[in-house]
Amino acid sequence: EQAAVLTIDGPGGAGKGTISRLVAERLGWHLLDSGALYRLTALAAIRHGVALDDELTLARLAAELDVVFLAEDGEGRVVLEGQEVTGDIRTEDVGDAASRVASLPKVRTALLQRQRDFRQAPGLVADGRDMGTVVFQEAPLKIFLTASAEERARRRHLQLREAGVDASLSSLLKEIQARDARDMQRSVAPLVPADDAVTLDTTSLTIPEVVDRLTALLAREG
Ligand code: C5P
Repeated sequence: EQAAVLTIDGPGGAGKGTISRLVAERLGWHLLDSGALYRLTALAAIRHGVALDDELTLARLAAELDVVFLAEDGEGRVVLEGQEVTGDIRTEDVGDAASRVASLPKVRTALLQRQRDFRQAPGLVADGRDMGTVVFQEAPLKIFLTASAEERARRRHLQLREAGVDASLSSLLKEIQARDARDMQRSVAPLVPADDAVTLDTTSLTIPEVVDRLTALLAREG
């Protein structure tokens, strides 16, 4: 008997991270932030001086990733090779490197089992790009969370401004569009909604509204 799983896929900046965490908290389920695994692989590569197109070495790095997720405190702290990297993996540079590393099939295969191991009772909320299409294909409820690129850039801009970073809206929009294109056009596990996914456009929805809709959908699912 497999534990329950809810998959939440979608482009960067659609609010998946926040929404997934809140839904997992409300349900008392585990949380898989699969993007963090690609970010960690990228950071490990940068730190060990591995080229971002050296597929075999990157796949070995991904398979042997020495990582601990400290989820108990609710802040999603991450420790790589004994060192806290919670902030380090969130930079634009590491995000960009992650999306390059994530385009390599052997890296994706190397991370497959590690992601499936997160599926434990009473259930798992799995956040990513291919949770419903590849990693948890048999999930009973799959969500595809989107928002317009403009709205995602605006949200990112606000987030950065709150952190005291002054980035231009137009350059953020360009970065988001470039990341989208790379994630959607890659040949392995491209970013597309699963055939049986429910698409939810969050452009004009608040975070609590999205959380309510998802928990309602899940309740209906049984
Ligand atoms: O979601 P996040 O921005 O942390 O993901 C970083 C990168 O990792 C994404 O741009 C995407 O290329 C990749 N990724 C992926 N498959 C996932 C999660 C993330 O390819 N399931």
